[in-house]
Amino acid sequence: MTGAKFEQGTREQVKSLVKASHEAKNNSYSPYSKFRVGAALLCQDGTVIKGCNVENASYGLTICAERTALVKAISDGHKQFKAIAIASDMSSSMIAPCGACRQFLVEFGVDWDVYMTKPDHSYKNMKTGDLLPLCFVPDSLDEERISHSA
Ligand code: THU
Repeated sequence: MTGAKFEQGTREQVKSLVKASHEAKNNSYSPYSKFRVGAALLCQDGTVIKGCNVENASYGLTICAERTALVKAISDGHKQFKAIAIASDMSSSMIAPCGACRQFLVEFGVDWDVYMTKPDHSYKNMKTGDLLPLCFVPDSLDEERISHSA
């Protein structure tokens, strides 16, 4: 589907998405963790939407960069995505999305691309569904169910 198409995209497209994810880090609001994260989401129509993590004094209300980007995109009318690049300041590890963000990603398909990057712009690419095996997705709600009284 959408992810497969993007896989054939140029190296340049990936490069610019990775760069945008690192730019997105600059707006990170992370006074508590001091752990900056940025995301750049490539929509089906080519639009790139950036997001950063937004922390909160209550800690638990923190929103990750990936979900910020997705919520911005959805509220702007985008529903199909080709890829997302994620950036942090970790020098030796690629930033991998947290469990909540993985669930958020598969909501919009199990076969689009996630680019997990390092500050030197190197990356590891995986499909959304491969990051969350046996996931619960919108189609799960249409599965045949046993009858119940509630
Ligand atoms: N964070 C993200 O924004 N995305 C991730 O994939 C991992 C974690 C943020 C949440 C919090 O603001 C900070 O990183 C430390 O957990």
